[in-house]
Amino acid sequence: MTTPTAFDSINFRNALGAFATGVTIVTTRDDAGNDVGLTANSFNSVSLDPPMVLWSLAKTSKALDAFMNGDSFAVHILSAGQQELSGRFARSGSDKFAGLEPRRGRGNVPLLDGCTACFECKTTFRYEGGDHVIFVGEVLSFDNQMLPPLVFHSGAYKLVMDKQAARKEEAENDGSFSKNFLGYLLGSAYQKIFTGIRAELVELGLSEEDYLILSILGIGDNRCISEVDSLLKLSGHSVTTETVNNLSARGLLQSAPDAEGAVCLQLTEEGRQLQIRLMAVAKAGEVDLEGELDESEVLLLKSLLKRLVRGSDATARLLWRDTAKRA
Ligand SMILES: Cc1cc2nc3c(=O)[nH]c(=O)nc-3n(C[C@H](O)[C@H](O)[C@H](O)COP(=O)(O)O)c2cc1C
Repeated sequence: MTTPTAFDSINFRNALGAFATGVTIVTTRDDAGNDVGLTANSFNSVSLDPPMVLWSLAKTSKALDAFMNGDSFAVHILSAGQQELSGRFARSGSDKFAGLEPRRGRGNVPLLDGCTACFECKTTFRYEGGDHVIFVGEVLSFDNQMLPPLVFHSGAYKLVMDKQAARKEEAENDGSFSKNFLGYLLGSAYQKIFTGIRAELVELGLSEEDYLILSILGIGDNRCISEVDSLLKLSGHSVTTETVNNLSARGLLQSAPDAEGAVCLQLTEEGRQLQIRLMAVAKAGEVDLEGELDESEVLLLKSLLKRLVRGSDATARLLWRDTAKRA
């Protein structure tokens, strides 16, 4: 237990950061007619009737005079895609509104687009709050776009997921091994992405192994056959002499020994062009599938999968390191 006398301001700030919040930008207009605003997560609801909200402003803020003298402000709840905007409005002294062309609200207060909700307020109370001033505003109008929110926790922006919906879905499929089995889910998602590529491969007379070898060399060319083989094994396939000969005969691959005499594979120009074409089809399949998710969910899904792939297997870690090095 930390006692008040032992308060360390960094520890105190960190402990406060354990409280997850949304992120807002609060805007107003100063006496000279300049737009003013800052990022704030001290926002909270106060009263439903009359409708009131509050937030607090550091006394050191350059925006203090504008909010003390003005009687209108707008609180914008930021959406998940507005992290850059949050960063911009948290930088003191910068021209925060450059290039934004905000709409005008009550009292000519600047209103920002793309937010999940916005509350236009009349300042009703100002309270001293230590090194901050607490502003209470009566909400005169608001809108709610219901977009996924930007979230701040422990000094970092976070993603939210609907845990209840995920639990419900899990419970609904309870007893079905396949529908809750990660391998089945990953495999089904892969097959969905692969539909377009498969059609393309049939047209080209190429097998899945051919495609995977071209892709491995597309990520990092001039690999020894043994290296390509260990990477291909991740998908349950192996490099065979027949596959290499077939790809070489089609003018897509060439092989040459390296300094130690090991046979290495390289894409020909034609092979590279084909690999780029197949990559575009794969990307289109990915974009199609991602259409089911929002931007944050895609980010979260990929981040979790990267952790699984990186952590689970020595070869995968090798591919990962290698890909990062070559990128
Ligand atoms: C996520 C986040 C939340 C913040 N919340 C607040 C807040 O509630 N009150 C505040 O005064 N400053 C807060 N800040 C810091 C201000 O945004 C920052 O100090 C301010 O924009 C500096 O510019 P100014 O001097 O023009 O106000 C926050 C910053 C971030 C990144």
